[in-house]
Amino acid sequence: MSRLDHVLACSLVFYGVLALAHSALSAGNLTGENSCVHCHSELPAGSFYEVKSHSWVGSIHQQHDVTCDRCHGGNPTAAEEKQAHIGVLGSSDPSSSVYFKNIPATCGRCHGAESYKFTQGLHYKMLESTGKGPECVTCHGSMVTRVLTSDNLVAVCERCHNERMGIFPYVPQKAKAVLLLLRESKALLAAAEKLYNSPGGTETAQTLGHAEVDLHDAKLDWHKFDLDNITKLLQEFYDTLEDLPPAPPCR
Ligand code: HEC
Ligand code: HEC
Ligand code: HEC
Ligand code: HEC
Ligand code: HEC
Repeated sequence: MSRLDHVLACSLVFYGVLALAHSALSAGNLTGENSCVHCHSELPAGSFYEVKSHSWVGSIHQQHDVTCDRCHGGNPTAAEEKQAHIGVLGSSDPSSSVYFKNIPATCGRCHGAESYKFTQGLHYKMLESTGKGPECVTCHGSMVTRVLTSDNLVAVCERCHNERMGIFPYVPQKAKAVLLLLRESKALLAAAEKLYNSPGGTETAQTLGHAEVDLHDAKLDWHKFDLDNITKLLQEFYDTLEDLPPAPPCR
C-alpha cells in the first residue's frame, strides 16, 4: 500500500497543474454565427426560452461548439424563426428528439458508449416500460449543464431511491461511495502515469496500460448502474497497480 500512498502524495502537485490547464482550455468560446444561439440570446430576459438558452451558455457543450441544433434539430443557418424551427419539436411531443424517452438516443449520437451501457441497465428498462426511470437529463441537468460529483449525487438519486417510495433506498449512499472510489482511482492513475513516466514497451508502461483499461471498463459500467460490478472492476484495477515496481522519487 505504501507505493500507492507515495503516488497519492505526489499527485497533489499535479492537481494544481491540471486545474490551471483546465481553466485555460475552457476560457475560449468557439461558437461562431448560429441563428439558434443568436436569436435565443436576444429573447426577453426571464422568459422560459431565454432561461433555457441561458443554461446552455457556459456549459461543457457550448465550450465544445455543440450548438442547439445538434440536440434539437432545425436549421441553424436560417435567420427567420419559422424557417429555423423546421424539425424542432417541443419536449412533450413523443416524436421530439428531446422527448424524455428519446433522450438517450439523441445523446447517444455523440456519447455512444455511455448510451449503450445505459440501455443495458435497469433504469432504461423502467424508462421504456413505465416511464419512471431516470434518463440522461435527470442526472446531467436540463440541457446538460453538470456532471454529478459524489457530493451532489445523493440528492438526485434520493428523488426515487428513498424509504417512502421503497425503491432500493440503500442506493444513494452506496452510489456515493462507488463514485468517490471511481474518481480517486482516476486521480491515482493520472498521478502514477506522471510519476513513472515510462517509455512505451517497458513492463511498467504495460502495467499502466493494463490499469487504464481496467479503469475504463469500470467507468463505462457506471452508466449501467450495477454498483457491485463496478466495485469488482475497480478491484481489478487496484490489483493491476500492485504489480508496479517500487516508485521512483517525486519528479
Ligand atoms: C429568429 C428567432 C429564433 C431563431 C432563429 C430560433 N428560435 Fe427557437 N424559439 C424562438 C422563440 C421566440 C421561441 C418561443 C416559442 C415560439 O414563438 O415558437 C422559440 C422556441 C424554441 C424551442 C421550444 C419549442 C417548443 O415547442 O417548446 C426550441 C427547442 C427552440 N426554439 C430551438 C431552436 C433551435 C434549435 C434553433 C436553431 C435551429 C432556433 N430555436 C432558432 C426564436 C427563435
Ligand atoms: C453533437 C454531439 C453531442 C451531442 C448530441 C451531445 N453531446 Fe455531450 N458532449 C459532446 C462533446 C464534444 C463534449 C465535450 C468533450 C467530451 O467530454 O467528450 C460533451 C460533453 C458532455 C458531458 C461532460 C463530459 C465531461 O467529461 O465533463 C456530458 C455529461 C454530456 N456531454 C452529456 C450529454 C447528454 C446527456 C446529451 C444529450 C442530452 C449530450 N451530451 C449530447 C458532444 C455531444
Ligand atoms: C442516474 C444518473 C445518471 C444518468 C441517468 C446518466 N448519467 Fe452520465 N454520469 C453520471 C455521473 C454521476 C457521472 C460521473 C461519473 C464519473 O465521474 O466517472 C456521469 C458521467 C457522464 C459522462 C462523462 C464521462 C467522462 O468521461 O467523465 C458522460 C458523457 C455522460 N455521463 C453521458 C450520459 C448519457 C449520454 C446518459 C444517458 C444515456 C447519461 N449520462 C445518464 C450520472 C448519470
Ligand atoms: C446537449 C443537448 C442540448 C443542447 C446543446 C441544447 N439543448 Fe435545449 N434541451 C435539451 C433537452 C434534452 C431538453 C429537454 C429536457 C429539459 O427540459 O431539460 C431541452 C429543452 C429545451 C427547451 C425547452 C423546450 C420544451 O419543449 O420543453 C428549450 C426552449 C431549449 N432546450 C432551447 C435550447 C437552445 C436555444 C439551445 C442553444 C442555445 C439548446 N436548447 C441547446 C438538450 C439540449
Ligand atoms: C427517476 C427515478 C430514479 C432516479 C432519479 C434514480 N433511479 Fe435508480 N432506479 C429507479 C428505478 C425505477 C429502478 C428499478 C426498480 C425496480 O427494479 O423495481 C432503479 C434501480 C436502480 C439500481 C438497481 C438496484 C439493484 O440492487 O438492483 C441502482 C444501482 C440504481 N437504481 C442506481 C441509481 C443511482 C446511483 C441514482 C442517482 C445517480 C439513481 N439510481 C437515480 C429509478 C430512479
